[in-house]
Amino acid sequence: MNTLVALCAIGAEKILGNEIKHLGYKPAGNAPGRVAFYGDDDALFRSNLCLRTADRVYLQLAKYEAFNFDELYDGAYSVNWQDFLKKDSRIIVDKIRTSRSKLNSEHSIQGIIHKAIYSKLGDVWHISNLPETGEENNVRVYVEDNNVSVLLDLSGLPLHKRGYRTDGGIAPLRETTAAVLLQEMMWRRKTPLHDPFCGSGTIAIEAALYAYNVAPGFGRRFALENLPIFNAARAEEIKAREAGQIRTDVEVRITGSDIDDKAVSRAKQNAEHACVMAGRALKSIGINSHIQRPDFIQSDFSDLSAPYENGLILCNPPYGERLGDDEEARSLYKKMRSLWTDFENWDLGIITSNPNFMETFGHKTGSIKKIKAGNLDTSFYIYRRGK
Ligand SMILES: C[S@@+](CC[C@H](N)C(=O)[O-])C[C@H]1O[C@@H](n2cnc3c(N)ncnc32)[C@H](O)[C@@H]1O
Repeated sequence: MNTLVALCAIGAEKILGNEIKHLGYKPAGNAPGRVAFYGDDDALFRSNLCLRTADRVYLQLAKYEAFNFDELYDGAYSVNWQDFLKKDSRIIVDKIRTSRSKLNSEHSIQGIIHKAIYSKLGDVWHISNLPETGEENNVRVYVEDNNVSVLLDLSGLPLHKRGYRTDGGIAPLRETTAAVLLQEMMWRRKTPLHDPFCGSGTIAIEAALYAYNVAPGFGRRFALENLPIFNAARAEEIKAREAGQIRTDVEVRITGSDIDDKAVSRAKQNAEHACVMAGRALKSIGINSHIQRPDFIQSDFSDLSAPYENGLILCNPPYGERLGDDEEARSLYKKMRSLWTDFENWDLGIITSNPNFMETFGHKTGSIKKIKAGNLDTSFYIYRRGK
């Protein structure tokens, strides 16, 4: 059994934990922005392929107590790095996090861990200089309460880079954040969904992938695929099994609109890429089925009317600090009151980092989730009105 650690937006740990359980793996504890879990060998590839709300997945290679640099070095040296890295691997100890521990100089810890890995590989392979001309392999280290966890990155590019979004336009939402919002809303495929500020289409596309049960990682590779522990034949079997889970027998009503026609074209293009990616996965198992694209139109949100009695409006309107000035954002949030009346029985989910959103929008909710995605502190306002 392996211990894996998945990273996520701070505030999304519970949702990620549920996703992990849903995949059949056992969560092994949370900390802000990460969830540990136990998984079999398949979990290394499958968690990267299937998790929608994780930013990265790491394999834990060691966990030990260290109160001084010798113990830190010995623990890292004891890992059989030769099983996990290639002879030409470029080893980057890129992230160190320390808290409540005797060892707290992140710079020194980084140097010592790198030296331990380098020395171990040199000793095992009988070479004094590793060429480090190949792929980059990233190692992350946590030192918490004098406990050291040494983690090897299995993802490579962060998992929000699904491969379908070639152009994000201005201030796109992370795909993983969109996936978190859908889970926070407990959205189900039978509920119509509309994003009136769709930008590059992220929310609608993530909703479609979820609705059709398409694993989000079909369109990309993972760092794991360059490691000696990678079992390519098994990964193909896992992909085929996940492709077999894609639902082509369901009808969904997912739409988006934006005032900017260029954004609408981008959204259409990105949705096309995502659905082609899903279509390819189906083709690989001999199924020639078409995945229905979400519909995008150009419209000012205030010109919209509800096409169904119930549904979900899910969006991230312009933030203010990133798009235009704060005054502009305020007047837009005030105008957004029309969504409240025009989509009378629809639930609303609105994410923004603008602290004045709720008072300007004019409707209170007790359900506000704090989500820290990247460096941005955002609040997600949930209004449940549907039946
Ligand atoms: C923060 S971006 C949305 C990003 C999007 N979620 C994505 O992932 O790409 C806000 C979007 O609101 C759009 N917008 C601004 N004012 C609008 C209005 N009055 N009606 C509709 N869309 C508007 C902008 O063109 C922009 O694409």
